[in-house]
Amino acid sequence: MKVQMIAAISRGAAIGRGGDVPWELPDDEAFLLDQLDGAFLISGRKSYESPQGEMIFTGRPHTVVTRQNGYVPAFGGAVAHSVEQAFEQAKQSRYGRAIVLGGEKIYELALPYADELLLTVVDTEVPEADAYFPRISHQNWSASCIGRHPKDERHAHAFALMRYTRT
Ligand SMILES: NC(=O)c1ccc[n+]([C@@H]2O[C@H](COP(=O)([O-])OP(=O)(O)OC[C@H]3O[C@@H](n4cnc5c(N)ncnc54)[C@H](OP(=O)(O)O)[C@@H]3O)[C@@H](O)[C@H]2O)c1
Repeated sequence: MKVQMIAAISRGAAIGRGGDVPWELPDDEAFLLDQLDGAFLISGRKSYESPQGEMIFTGRPHTVVTRQNGYVPAFGGAVAHSVEQAFEQAKQSRYGRAIVLGGEKIYELALPYADELLLTVVDTEVPEADAYFPRISHQNWSASCIGRHPKDERHAHAFALMRYTRT
C-alpha cells in the first residue's frame, strides 16, 4: 500500500493557526480534492473537526485518529486509536493508497511510514502559527516541483506544488 501525506505549508512550515489553515487558496483546494479520489484518508481528530473537515471527508473513505473511546466521526468513517491502526484499516480496505491529511501530531507520527509527500509551499510567513509540518531530512527525500501558481485576485499568496519521494 502506498502512503502519501498531503499538506500546505508556509515558508517556515506552518500549517495551522487557531484550529484552522492560515490561508484560503481555492486552486490548491481543488488540487487537494483531485488527489483524494481512490484513496483511504487518515486524519487527526482536531483536523477532522476543523472548518475544512466536512468538505474533505464527506463521501470519502476515511478514519479518524483519536484517543477517545466511543468517538463517533461526524462525516461517517472509522475510528483508529493509533496511526498504525489507521494504516491497518487502510490495508484492509479495497484502496491501494492511504493519504495522511494531518494535522501536526498525525503528520509527525505518520512520517516514518510515508512513501511520498505532496506539499504546497505557500509564499508567506505565519507568525502566530500553532501547528507545523515536521522537519524532513532532505537526504532522505528527492524533491520535484510539479506546478506553480501566482498570487492573483483569488489567491493572496503565490504557491508551488512540490512532490517529495523517499530516496
Ligand atoms: N495546512 C494543512 O495542510 C493542514 C492540514 C491539516 C491540518 N491543518 C491544521 O493543523 C491543525 C490541527 O493539527 P493538530 O496537531 O493540532 O491536531 P491533529 O493532528 O489534527 O489531531 C490531534 C489529535 O489526534 C489525536 N491523537 C494525537 N496523537 C495520538 C496518538 N498517539 N494516538 C491516538 N490519537 C492521537 C488526539 O485526538 P483526541 O484529542 O480526540 O484524543 C489529538 O488531540 C489545525 O490548525 C488544522 O487547520 C493544516
